[in-house]
Amino acid sequence: MRISGEVITTPYSFVATSHSIMWNGLEPVFVDIDPATFNIDPAKIEAAITPRTTAIMPVHCYSNPCDVEAIQKIADNYGLKVIYDAAHAFGVNYKDESLLKWGDLSILSFHATKVFNTFEGGAIISPDAKTKQRIDRLKNFGIADELTVTAPGINGKMSEINAAFGLVQLKYIAQAMAQRQEIDARYRAELADVKGISFYQHNINANSNCSYFPIMVEQSYPLSRDELYDKLKANNILSRRYFYPLISNMPMYRGLPSAASNNLLQANQLAEKILCLPIFNELTVDEQQQVIDLIKRVK
Ligand SMILES: Cc1ncc(COP(=O)(O)O)c(C=O)c1O
Repeated sequence: MRISGEVITTPYSFVATSHSIMWNGLEPVFVDIDPATFNIDPAKIEAAITPRTTAIMPVHCYSNPCDVEAIQKIADNYGLKVIYDAAHAFGVNYKDESLLKWGDLSILSFHATKVFNTFEGGAIISPDAKTKQRIDRLKNFGIADELTVTAPGINGKMSEINAAFGLVQLKYIAQAMAQRQEIDARYRAELADVKGISFYQHNINANSNCSYFPIMVEQSYPLSRDELYDKLKANNILSRRYFYPLISNMPMYRGLPSAASNNLLQANQLAEKILCLPIFNELTVDEQQQVIDLIKRVK
C-alpha cells in the first residue's frame, strides 16, 4: 500500500488496530472519537495530518459505520490511503450497499467471538480485482503459478479446517443475525427506563449486525461500571469492558504525543463507562432476563 511514517487511527478499539500499525514499523497517531457514533471524529482528523501522514485507519465500532464520506474526502484531499478495521462489520450495508466497499481496504475478523467466524481467521476486502490478486499471491508465498513467484509473500492462507467451519456457518448466518436482532431489541426495550443506563444510536442508513450490545453506565446509575461488571460476574454472567483500557493508555502507546488524555477526552470518558452485555444467537429469553433483572434491581 506504500504506507510509511504516520497512520491516523482511533484509540477506542481493540489493541490489534494499533498493534498492526506498530507491527509494520509505522507510528499510530490517535484522534478522538465522536461520542455519538463511538467512531473516529472526522472533524478532528485534519488537525492530526503532518507531512509524514500516509494513511487513516478507522474502525467501524460495534458495526456502526464510520462517516465514510467525510473520511474519503479528507483522504482524497491529502492523498492518503484508508484502511478500515472492519472486524465488527460483517454483513453491514450502508445506504443499500456493502459497507466494505469503502476505503482502499477493509479487514474483517472471523475470530470465534464474531457474528460470523471461522474460529480464527479473517478476510481482506479490496475494491478492485488487481489488488485482490496481489493479496492472494502475497498470502501464498507470492506464488503466481507453478513456475512464477512475483513477490516475497508469506504463508497467510486460511486453513482448510477453518474455512470448512466458516462454510457451514454461512448457511445459518441470516438466522443467527435475526436472533441477535431480537435479543438487541429486548435489551433496548427492557433497559430503556433504567436511570443511568444509556445506549448509542446506530446509523439510520445502515443495519447493525448486533455483534455487541454496549451500554453506558452513567454516574446517575447506583453502581459504578466496574461494580456492575463485578455484580454480573458474581452471578456467573460475563459482560465485557470492551474497549477498556483505552489503547492510548497502554504502556507501549502512552508515550506518544497524540496519546495524551486531553487530546482524547471523549474516548477516555467512554472507556470508563462502557459495558458490553452478553449477546449471542443462542442466548435464551430466560437467560437474558436474568441479566436484565440484575441490572434493574439494584439494592
Ligand atoms: C476492532 C477489532 N480489530 C481487530 C480485531 C482482531 O481480530 P483478529 O482476532 O481476527 O485478529 C478485533 C478482534 O477482536 C477487533 O475487535
